[in-house]
Amino acid sequence: MIELQDITKSFGDKEILKGVSAVMESGKVNLIIGASGSGKTVMMKCIVGLMTINTGKILYDQEDFTAMEEKEKKLVRQKIGMLFQGSALFDSMTVEQNVMFPLDMFSRDTLRDKKKRVMECLERVQLKDAAKKFPAEISGGMKKRVGIARAIVLNPKYLFCDEPNSGLDPQTSLLIDKLIKELTVEYNITTVINTHDMNTVMESGDHIVYMYQGKKQWEGSNKDIVFSKDQKLNDFIFASEFLREAKEMRQLDLFKDGSWRDQLKKD
Ligand SMILES: Nc1ncnc2c1ncn2[C@@H]1O[C@H](COP(=O)(O)OP(=O)(O)OP(=O)(O)O)[C@@H](O)[C@H]1O
Ligand SMILES: [Mg+2]
Repeated sequence: MIELQDITKSFGDKEILKGVSAVMESGKVNLIIGASGSGKTVMMKCIVGLMTINTGKILYDQEDFTAMEEKEKKLVRQKIGMLFQGSALFDSMTVEQNVMFPLDMFSRDTLRDKKKRVMECLERVQLKDAAKKFPAEISGGMKKRVGIARAIVLNPKYLFCDEPNSGLDPQTSLLIDKLIKELTVEYNITTVINTHDMNTVMESGDHIVYMYQGKKQWEGSNKDIVFSKDQKLNDFIFASEFLREAKEMRQLDLFKDGSWRDQLKKD
């Protein structure tokens, strides 16, 4: 579990994160959504320690990450897997070498054991046959899967994915979401995803944090969204006429099966 307690982050006199508190639960896919420029990437970089917050606290399983010495922080970082926007693979390395990279950096295993672990991960993302290929020779969806394999190779407790679906078609996006969700549940990982993808939000949004201009505007699940009266959230999620109609239809469905009573109590 990761807890953010009233975190702020500024660049010069421009305040980007204006006091955000949230809890990211383990075994769950926690989504951070919000318009471009609302501070999602900055928030993720602050959580993993690539950027330093100005005030507030970040706790990893009750341990105060912000107060740690560099040595302790490094230990936490070793438990973090990260899938960067655009996959960020090394072009001059094969798929296998890309996935091996974190092991070369952090593990003292023998080459044989490392290769075995790489193959396990490639198998998990169904890319064993592509092990000897270079990034330029595989599709965008495959690159994302290599990125996921690389992110999980060290058995992370925490997994961060910045826009894992950008540039992918809706079906491939859903496959990537499904894979991330399966890994999260299987290994009880605390997963945090930044996304714009409404399919992701509606399909795998157990816990959603909606950011608006550097603040947490709303928090809840994909089911809560359908009944939320938060105007800013509604304008963001149900931006088109088509989606507004779909929302009304979904509400009708939920009314029929009675689950609306619980939903209306929230928010
Ligand atoms: N290193 C930096 N120095 C100064 N300002 C920055 C820096 N990184 C981000 N910002 C600013 O912080 C704000 C939030 O940026 P961020 O990248 O977090 O947005 P985002 O929500 O991830 O957007 P997108 O959906 O487009 O990825 C923007 O106004 C951006 O210009
Ligand atoms: Mg971003």
